[in-house]
Amino acid sequence: MKKNIAFAIGLILLLVISCRKEYINIDIEIPDFNFPKTLVFEDSLSSYEIFEGTPSDLSPSEGFELLELSSVLFTDYSHKQRLVKIPEGTQMTKSNDEKIDFPNGTILTKTFFYYNDERDTTLGKRVIETRLEIKENDIWNIATYIWNQNQTDAILKVDGLDTPITWIDENGISRSTVYHIPSENECMTCHQSNSTMTPLGPTLRNLNRNVHRNGSTLNQLTHLQNVGVLNNFSANQIGQMVNYDDPNTSLEERGRAYLAMNCAHCHNPGSWERSADREFDFRYDTPFNEAGILFEEEKIKRVLQDGEMPLIGTTMLDDEGVDLIIQYLNSL
Ligand code: HEC
Ligand code: HEC
Repeated sequence: MKKNIAFAIGLILLLVISCRKEYINIDIEIPDFNFPKTLVFEDSLSSYEIFEGTPSDLSPSEGFELLELSSVLFTDYSHKQRLVKIPEGTQMTKSNDEKIDFPNGTILTKTFFYYNDERDTTLGKRVIETRLEIKENDIWNIATYIWNQNQTDAILKVDGLDTPITWIDENGISRSTVYHIPSENECMTCHQSNSTMTPLGPTLRNLNRNVHRNGSTLNQLTHLQNVGVLNNFSANQIGQMVNYDDPNTSLEERGRAYLAMNCAHCHNPGSWERSADREFDFRYDTPFNEAGILFEEEKIKRVLQDGEMPLIGTTMLDDEGVDLIIQYLNSL
């Protein structure tokens, strides 16, 4: 009898352990957004001549400028390179709300890659996908390209794909996941604002930081102005988003920056109505008492720890991000 009980307990334990998942999004159906498009994407990424030399070195071609954000979206620990190119003779201009107005013909790119070994980046990398946003007739068009095995080019993919990834992290531990390349409809879920597509990263505030260019360190907005792609105004008058990974900045700002970059694209009044209707507005500049954070701390913690949120865009928990948000919520 005792033996049977022990066996049953063992069996239950085994079941519990084998059912434990790293990440479980809640199952919500995303509607077909079908937002209007104003251009047809090329079949191959190489048509856009984004990179020069060996493509996987990701060296930007003439006319492409690097954009570095203070705080970023977490995507399964992948590295990302962001570039912008605007038509010759045009400029990006500062709009009133610390956003950027981009001219028609602007190309924004984001390339996702993994170093084989985080401890030694000379051991090579695997480039997974390059996402594009191209503005034409005042509409942003959006698509992704999947890199081939030889890493020579990438092809257009609109319906998404799962691909297994392994890498060695900075502690020498082997990590792996089945990385999900989003479908066009998933892109639209996050990139919509009042039912049109919009860029999410390059706000003046998130770009207002120091960068290294041509051997010197300078303010990124000043650099973009120096090379003529951004109109002139004083960078001093622009606010700054903190880097949420930087422990030397305030916990309050780090928490807000994390929620802004990982949650606000769905949780703001102009986003997908299913999440816009919820009580949260996680945008960075939303006053704290209107953000819906207070008194919802336990709920926010739960959905993060259980891996229910963010709803899409990751397949694994952002351990450091979850720790940060728990610390932040506990401090309120
Ligand atoms: C889970 C939400 C989410 C999904 C899904 C998503 N994006 Fe994004 N994307 C973001 C956020 C947030 C940023 C800005 C932060 C960053 O780059 O780290 C961004 C940045 C970008 C950028 C750089 C310019 C910009 O808007 O900041 C491009 C290009 C882009 N996404 C294209 C795509 C395409 C194409 C797809 C679908 C294949 C896609 N995205 C899917 C959230 C998402
Ligand atoms: C791709 C869009 C998307 C992203 C990104 C996203 N959410 Fe959500 N979230 C939703 C939707 C949709 C719902 C409503 C679910 C429903 O209707 O049941 C929701 C619901 C919630 C809820 C309420 C859950 C409940 O049980 O009542 C919380 C809390 C939440 N999200 C927090 C977050 C946080 C924190 C992040 C960032 C880490 C985040 N969300 C990122 C789409 C998103």
